[in-house]
Amino acid sequence: MAMISPSLLAADLSHLSEEIKKVRSADLLHIDVMDGVFVPNITFGVPLMEALSRLDTPPLDVHLMIDDASRYAEEYIGLGASILTVHIEAVTHLHRLISDIKDAGAEAFVSINPHTPVSLLEEILPVVDGVLVMTVNPGFTAQKFIASVAGKIKKLDFIRNQSGLRFKIAVDGGVDLLNASSLVSDGADILVMGAAVFRSDSPEEVVRKVKELRR
Ligand code: DX5
Ligand code: ZN
Repeated sequence: MAMISPSLLAADLSHLSEEIKKVRSADLLHIDVMDGVFVPNITFGVPLMEALSRLDTPPLDVHLMIDDASRYAEEYIGLGASILTVHIEAVTHLHRLISDIKDAGAEAFVSINPHTPVSLLEEILPVVDGVLVMTVNPGFTAQKFIASVAGKIKKLDFIRNQSGLRFKIAVDGGVDLLNASSLVSDGADILVMGAAVFRSDSPEEVVRKVKELRR
């Protein structure tokens, strides 16, 4: 069954706790941390993580879109990240960081931007818990899904089957109820969805429908 990780970036933050209640049955809650350097936007940081720790949320799936993520990874795990995702494009010593994330008690995911080929992951795949395939250029919610890069999901699924590795495949950017089922049949395990959840008439129903998807 597919897992859904609603992206808080698309929520109405003037009603934070009500918005979170709407997605309480989701598998994860996706938190986009942006620094205005690695991506052209500045979003959530430590104060939001602290506020979330006082609310009843799904497990936190933290997506670091910041330069040199190694400086902050352990801090975000201490603040409650169950999954910590870092970008291959933003980390120099990725192998060390992945093992530090796991040692600190979180699942370690690596993300690739639309221009980054799956082949660059070859040496890191055996040690990660998951790969987050970006299907938009990161920075903003409600951008258009880039269909041409979604082929990476099939490639990763093929590698997973061939190698016997067990990493999860997640997809983030422009995912909605129209493209969700084909992403899941291609091999995606976790769908990150911002606008399609929080800007829909019924976030609860979108969560339920995605959780029912099967390969
Ligand atoms: C984009 C972020 C996404 C974004 C997804 O940079 O990483 O998580 O919030 O939002 P939607 O699903 O609206 O594209
Ligand atoms: Zn994200």
